[in-house]
Amino acid sequence: MRGITVNFDGLKQFVTDEEYNSMKNRVKIAHELLENKNGAGKDFLGWLDLPKNITDEEINHIKECAERIRNQAEVLIVVGIGGSYLGAKAVIDALSDPLYNLQSAKDRRGPQILFAGNTLSGTYMRSLFEYLADKDFAINVISKSGTTLEPAVAFRMLKLFAEEKYGIGGAAERIYVTTDKENGVLKQIADKEGYEKFVIPEDVGGRYSVLTPVGLLPIAVAGIEFEDIIDGALLARKMYGINRIEDNDCYKYAAYRNILNSRGKDIEIMTSYEPSMQYFIEWYKQLFGESEGKNQKGIFPAGCIFTTDLHSMGQLIQDGKRNIFETVINLTKENGLMKVPHIDNAIDGLEYIEGKDLDYINMKAQKGTYDAHITGRVPVIEINLKELNAYTMGQLIYFFEKACAVSGYILGINPFDQPGVELYKKNMMKLLKGGN
Ligand code: PA5
Repeated sequence: MRGITVNFDGLKQFVTDEEYNSMKNRVKIAHELLENKNGAGKDFLGWLDLPKNITDEEINHIKECAERIRNQAEVLIVVGIGGSYLGAKAVIDALSDPLYNLQSAKDRRGPQILFAGNTLSGTYMRSLFEYLADKDFAINVISKSGTTLEPAVAFRMLKLFAEEKYGIGGAAERIYVTTDKENGVLKQIADKEGYEKFVIPEDVGGRYSVLTPVGLLPIAVAGIEFEDIIDGALLARKMYGINRIEDNDCYKYAAYRNILNSRGKDIEIMTSYEPSMQYFIEWYKQLFGESEGKNQKGIFPAGCIFTTDLHSMGQLIQDGKRNIFETVINLTKENGLMKVPHIDNAIDGLEYIEGKDLDYINMKAQKGTYDAHITGRVPVIEINLKELNAYTMGQLIYFFEKACAVSGYILGINPFDQPGVELYKKNMMKLLKGGN
């Protein structure tokens, strides 16, 4: 069977039936606020129906431009920050060869994908420019507001660099802008210079935008079947639209998070045993952190890649302050790609796993860790996937988006704004404009 399943058995000794039952009505209210579009942030619910609302015209536009970029560029630079890059990076990393960017052009499924405008590091930009000097590249600049400083600065630099290399007209053929339909300076620049444009729907916030051209264009350039992602999300929309917590794992997850939070478990660690999921976890961190961290409330979303981080964070998780719960994204199928070889007269003590597949060993590590963490009083939720592919990725994305919205409503905050991000910007602008 295709798809994801969720196992809540690892919560049994931490949550009572009474607590669970008391959540049912709150979940129902959250569901109704979302469906009737009358809760906090009601103008930003476009993501709920994105998988069904995407038009053939939009799909074809993405495909055509992705093909053009694949033909014209050895490198695509995706310029954006927060929700304007994390979704694309999460999916590309999860579904591409782990060494994708290092593969030769003939082995790679598409151009190299590099990111810019997600830091203010001069060292990074200089290195990027040096790397691009002898390569053909294209730029996809993504900003909903069109005014965010980090991508705006990076884009100004890259635009100039492209114009010096290709001339103004040549650069214009390599610049693709994803922004608001009407507002923002990026939209004005795109109109003035005649760049190819993609629209971020008005009612979709940055961190909920991966299933718009924000995510889909770079994903398509990387040679990933983005329509399968949409199909997976479409299934998830149906599965997780059911207004009965008993039949809806997404709502159960949202409910359990809040119960655990009320019991002082205010840190959620999202874990995976696949390093390719690192940026999916970063995407989850932004989604939940920016959505729920308000009014002195919220669960701190953290992330670990196991078994790597068992050797750095494992001690704290097992034995530190008991304010943690864990949600693990488990791959449940062995791919059978790499076995531990036999060697004669071995003295490394590994005879007991000779002939065993690395995935098998990884899965035993998962099970051993699951049991250890429950023994150490860390509640564990398991999200199980047989396969990591475009379809299950679409399901996962929608699962977490919906869970985040419902969880946020249960918590009593608006999951669709981010007022707290403004103060650093205000202070930085004051310092920059004041000349200090
Ligand atoms: O989720 C959000 O709204 C934010 O994380 C934004 O995506 C991020 O701040 C980038 O904003 P913009 O796309 O307007 O440049």
